[in-house]
Amino acid sequence: MTFPLSSFHEAADAIRAATALKPKAGLVLGSGLDALADLVHQPTVLPYGQIPHFPESTALGHKGDLMLGHIADVPVMVMRGRFHLYEGYSPQQTVFPIRVMHIMGVRTVILTNAAGGLNPEFRVGDIMVIEDHISFPGLAGLNPLRGPNLQDFGERFPALNHTYTPELIHLAHRLAADQGLALRQGVYAHVAGPNFETPAEVRMLGQMGADAVGMSTVPEAIVAKHAGMPVLGFSTITNICVAETTSTEQPDAADVVEAARRVEQGYQALFLKLVPALVS
Ligand code: HPA
Repeated sequence: MTFPLSSFHEAADAIRAATALKPKAGLVLGSGLDALADLVHQPTVLPYGQIPHFPESTALGHKGDLMLGHIADVPVMVMRGRFHLYEGYSPQQTVFPIRVMHIMGVRTVILTNAAGGLNPEFRVGDIMVIEDHISFPGLAGLNPLRGPNLQDFGERFPALNHTYTPELIHLAHRLAADQGLALRQGVYAHVAGPNFETPAEVRMLGQMGADAVGMSTVPEAIVAKHAGMPVLGFSTITNICVAETTSTEQPDAADVVEAARRVEQGYQALFLKLVPALVS
């Protein structure tokens, strides 16, 4: 399913009819990170169902509202819940709101997710800033840029080096360190899900140089980069991927949400500093 340019404008018009706020930063809150929504001061809340062409959130740990308000005096547009391929949405549907952010004037996008740890040094509760990605769905054709190129957003063949803006990664490390929080950094492998990976897949992903694996974020980062928006991505390591075929340990979706909730406060403190620094 592809969308004509007019559909993004129809969604943006509906949002503008509800609020005069002109967002500068866009945030996507991943599994278990709903508490970041509490940072948004005096939000206008629009359920996704009220915005033309928006899909609806069906995923565990995900609400389905768009919030427009301020974080530390910065006007922001926050997705409380996102869309995934495993819900049955097309890649173009999963990224629809990011393109609406662009039309609304958002400059910088912050993407968050829950991810399984592949790097043997990672522990549950670590926060990894994303430096690069490997997208299995994207490489295999489930790419949000597939179909007619919308030149208003960007070029047909965008380069994806520096998709995750190096200066912003540096800034995130510095602000986190100021709060005594050491961020991990690494490569995020994107898979379609909804199953967790087999042990053989886990070993393969690690050998390919991925540090964490998850089912979101990358399509959003691709369309943001296509449209020239700087991106910062964070993965909460909510489980350690099981690499041994003989292991009886199993990842569990409820544990993922629970583990993400445990790092909420660290994120809240970081984002209160980060959001104003990003747009200044
Ligand atoms: N694999 C894929 N996606 C995930 C995982 C995982 O282990 N944990 C959280 N999201």
